[in-house]
Amino acid sequence: MAVLPILHVGHPNLRLTAREVTREELALPETQAFIDDLVETMHHANGAGLAATQVDRPLRICAIEVKDNPRYPYKPNIPLTILVNPVLEPLGDDTFDNEEGCLSVPNLRGGVRRFAELRVTSWDRHGATEQRIVRGITAGTFQHEVDHLDGKLFLDRVEDPRTLATWDQWKAHRETAFIERVRAVVARYGS
Ligand code: NI
Repeated sequence: MAVLPILHVGHPNLRLTAREVTREELALPETQAFIDDLVETMHHANGAGLAATQVDRPLRICAIEVKDNPRYPYKPNIPLTILVNPVLEPLGDDTFDNEEGCLSVPNLRGGVRRFAELRVTSWDRHGATEQRIVRGITAGTFQHEVDHLDGKLFLDRVEDPRTLATWDQWKAHRETAFIERVRAVVARYGS
C-alpha cells in the first residue's frame, strides 16, 4: 500500500468529471490496490473522506470513514465505506448549514448548504449494489465527496465568502457556534 500525493486547489485535474468504473475494471488487482491506497492516503491525512479525483485518478470511486476524527471531532462516526459509481438522491428539501474543510483546500474552511437526507445508490468495492439512507452531518460528508467526482470543491458552493476562515481563525471565531448547530442537526437527524 502507498500514500498517494493529494492534489491541491488550482490543479486542473481536480476539476475533471470522473468517469464510471465497469465491474471488470473494478475487479482488476490494480483497481483493488488503488482502493487500498486511497484508504491509506485518507487515513494518513486524517481525512473524513477522499475521492479518486483528489489523488489524480478520474474514476468514480471515493472512500469515507469517520472514527473519532481529530480533524473533525464533532462529526458522528461513519464506518469505512467505499462508494463506486455513487448516485445521490435528496429525500425532501431539508437543508442545513455545514462548515467544511477539504484535504485539497489546505487550511481553509467555509459555510456550505447541504441536503439533510439522501438516498445513496452505489457499488461496494466488489461491485455489489448497495443502497443506504444518510442523514445530517453524515449526509454532508457524502455530498462533499461525491461533488469531487464531478470536479466540484466546497469552495464552489460557499454562498457567503465571509464564512471562509483559516483553521486557526475558524477555531477562534466560528467553532463554538458551529458545534451548537451540529448538536441541533444531530439531535434532529440522528447523525
Ligand atoms: Ni474534499
